Amino acid sequence: MCGIVGYVGEKEASDFLIEGLRRLEYRGYDSAGIAVYDQGKIQIEKKMGRLANLEKVLETHPLHGKIGIGHTRWATHGGPSDVNAHPHGDCHNHFVVVHNGIIENYMEIKKELLEKGHIFKSETDTEVVAHLAEELDDGDFLSTVRKVIARITGSYTLVFMDAAQPDTIICTKKDNPLIIGLGQGENFIASDIPAVISHTRRIYILNDGEMAVVRKTGVSVYDGEGLPVSKKIHEVTWSAEAAEKGGYPHFMLKEIYEQPKAVRDTVNIHIGQDSQIVFDTLNWNKSDLMGMDNILITACGTAYHAGLVAKHYIEQFARIPVEVDIASEYRYRRPLTTERTLAVVISQSGETIDTLAALKEARRLGARSIAVTNSIGSSIAREADRVIYTLAGPEIAVASTKAYTTQLVALLMLALYMGQLKGTVTNEQVQDVVKALQTLPEKIEKILENSQYIAGLADHLTKVKDVFYIGRSIDYAIAMEGALKLKEISYIHAEAYAGGELKHGTLALIVPETPVIAVATQDDVKSKMYSNIQEVRARNAEVIGIGFDDDRELEKYVTETIRIPRVSGFIAPILSVIPMQLLAYYTGVKRGNDVDKPRNLAKSVTVE
Ligand code: F6R
Repeated sequence: MCGIVGYVGEKEASDFLIEGLRRLEYRGYDSAGIAVYDQGKIQIEKKMGRLANLEKVLETHPLHGKIGIGHTRWATHGGPSDVNAHPHGDCHNHFVVVHNGIIENYMEIKKELLEKGHIFKSETDTEVVAHLAEELDDGDFLSTVRKVIARITGSYTLVFMDAAQPDTIICTKKDNPLIIGLGQGENFIASDIPAVISHTRRIYILNDGEMAVVRKTGVSVYDGEGLPVSKKIHEVTWSAEAAEKGGYPHFMLKEIYEQPKAVRDTVNIHIGQDSQIVFDTLNWNKSDLMGMDNILITACGTAYHAGLVAKHYIEQFARIPVEVDIASEYRYRRPLTTERTLAVVISQSGETIDTLAALKEARRLGARSIAVTNSIGSSIAREADRVIYTLAGPEIAVASTKAYTTQLVALLMLALYMGQLKGTVTNEQVQDVVKALQTLPEKIEKILENSQYIAGLADHLTKVKDVFYIGRSIDYAIAMEGALKLKEISYIHAEAYAGGELKHGTLALIVPETPVIAVATQDDVKSKMYSNIQEVRARNAEVIGIGFDDDRELEKYVTETIRIPRVSGFIAPILSVIPMQLLAYYTGVKRGNDVDKPRNLAKSVTVE
């Protein structure tokens, strides 16, 4: 996910470009750049790191001009670096582009262009677009762009400048957002409304396949066939602050609602031909797996909870023993890690120092390693032998939500992939899970549709001092994540217990004022779980049960029920965690807390 801006008008383009990028920095922040038509050519300045780095460069090398484009990057192809930052130009910076998305067939096009003598500077998929425009240039900017679009596949927002037409920007999109802000004698292009809202509230929202020719005097939009389209002007009514969050009151809620897309993206990159599971970055064969005695999963916080679920996945499907350890504990206990251990570290940010240190220790002891991370080019991604990326997009709220569900998806697929290679799962089992994963986004949507009911349940929690979360088997791991979410966002004491463990001491704390959240999705321990629920009901505690929508029995034992669509026990955690995220969110909001930045916490913990 990247941020894109463009400007054409009477003012200094770079002023709007930098301001717009700052408002879009939440979309990506590993590098930034702008291109401006200045002194008879398109000039580019770009820099790795936060926007402030680019601003520093512009202090000594300012770009003056009235038309330009800009980009803030969240790397996909090619790590974060000055050279991989956008904008990208062709051999002569005749065509210059910024891009959000992925050009799937870029390798094939790049090969062809290299043979024709084009010289590439970066490792990005985007650069091929600029060179392709140079190759297909017929002197008509719009027609050239149309030819480029006809050649590329994938998802994109693309914005083009042409040195031969220094009064025009052309942009188009497929499966990625793009809006055009309509001003007086000036027009703006952006991936999202916040970039333009302080200049205009009148916008066009571009549809897939449409192309906009943007000049200071006006904007013309064409469909994929090149026919003019008459666009409706949308009047934005949000405040600038609300717009940045896409209309949501908090990033956390926005990110909870982004889960269908994040899960879909993460599933899709691992489905190959014949619906087999693929992990291109691992490059393993059966003997690699046969050489593994055990797997060590290590991580912190929410990522550690994902590891606890992954233990169930890997042991079930790949039949390899898995130990899960908190990263800050692992390296201080003389672990029994060997060269026959596979270390799997999980980290949204890829920068958590405890996780990084545990990874280094496991490698020092001879283990092979995989990082599961959401941050391309992060320290953990660089340290590990192999990397699996979750495609959650930038997560801004401190409380992890979409990163967690995508970690579960990636780890479930990894377990099946290992099982596939080892022969410990049947093709039919793989196909069943793949099918279930493909329909998961719709099921998440269904839960999200019920969010007002969950918001109502949060009223029960706002005044309490303690909440217990219980579950058995995988549901216990999910209960731990539910309890952590409530603690960090609402500041209410919450604890997770394995359902069967309550009676060994904790039941003494269950009183009518202590609500219990009971997760009951695992069929093999269902009857045991119902008994545990009855144990707490007998102490007059209120119980909110989370179970499948066709489970008529659960509602007999609980005071309130949150229903999730029926799926297999392995898929259930990816759904059952969502009502718990919402419950924590609404409880935090109702208690007046700053849910995006809870007290004492930071998004990326780079201290031990
Ligand atoms: C909780 C949360 C933290 C992180 C933990 C690890 O909502 O966000 O518990 O999960 O600090 O962070 P990463 O995954 O970046 O290593």
